Amino acid sequence: YRSLRIALLGAGSVGSQVARLLLEHADELAARVGAPLELVGIGVRDPEAQRDVDLPRELMTSDLATLVAGADIVVELLGGIEPARTLLLDAIAEGADVVTANKALIAAHGPELFDAAAIVGAQVAYEAAVGGAIPIIRPLEQSLAGDRVTRIMGIVNGTTNFILDRMHTEGSSLADALATATELGYAEADPTADIEGFDAASKATILASLAFHTAVPGELVHREGITGVTDAMVEQAERNDRVIKLVAICERMSGDAGDRVSARVHPVSLPATHPLAAVREAKNAIFVTAEAAGDLMFYGAGAGGPETASAVLGDLVSIARRHVLGGPGRAASTHADLRVAPFGDVLARH
Ligand code: HSE
Repeated sequence: YRSLRIALLGAGSVGSQVARLLLEHADELAARVGAPLELVGIGVRDPEAQRDVDLPRELMTSDLATLVAGADIVVELLGGIEPARTLLLDAIAEGADVVTANKALIAAHGPELFDAAAIVGAQVAYEAAVGGAIPIIRPLEQSLAGDRVTRIMGIVNGTTNFILDRMHTEGSSLADALATATELGYAEADPTADIEGFDAASKATILASLAFHTAVPGELVHREGITGVTDAMVEQAERNDRVIKLVAICERMSGDAGDRVSARVHPVSLPATHPLAAVREAKNAIFVTAEAAGDLMFYGAGAGGPETASAVLGDLVSIARRHVLGGPGRAASTHADLRVAPFGDVLARH
């Protein structure tokens, strides 16, 4: 099979990791997909800028429109609405598939992108948009597609969880903890999106839309960030064996007027014994309750370059396999990446 042309937009903390992994693991990924994934270019504002990862200069271009025009799959990690929206709509119109981690874009313009993709038979995948490395989009979209989700409650912003955790455990100020979260690559380019709850609200919008099979308008999602959480509130919570967390809640509510859905983001004071109270640092955790499945819990790294890159690459491999097979995103056969150790060898190691 011919190589698949991958255009990467953005080389920030996630984009640079996606590029690194695509280049470093090229052979392994090609074997898994059944075709080479050729990184044809990386679209950035300033090709000369210093990056977290050393990337080949010849791949860098500031001509994003031309880069996108020749691609089979566009991976968008620019963040923000424009130019991401226009570039992706143009790519889709040309028949390209799209992988994005852009929660603001999917929350505000998901239906527009999905409709455009449906017309040409293209795919839009966005596992990395919610919960970083945690698989949550695919479980809601596919695994639970036959069930009826009633409630989602989760910590979906790594930066604010990191900040609140540091305020509780080290008595850090919000500003100091935010500076550390930014250094660690967790925060958005404009960290207001994190601390004012916009990022979590975008994720709540996406989760509610998927879980309840309806396009939830972002402006109907109640949003309150953590800037109102003071040291005194944290101390008070500590004295009462409680922990302050920023949570997103999406619910199906029954009433006389029929079922409705609600999505909201705000800080809550949880008992220290609550499972979400144990979610530390920049980890995320998402509880999903469905009528038949009961309670499910998803936990893992909610932010960070390599972690989020893992979800991006998962989408990319899955879409690439469909190109090769023309069918569902499954492996063509089992590839002998590794041999199986006999149990005797396992015992000998312990
Ligand atoms: N700034 C986001 C967070 C990145 O802290 O969760 C992952 O979406």
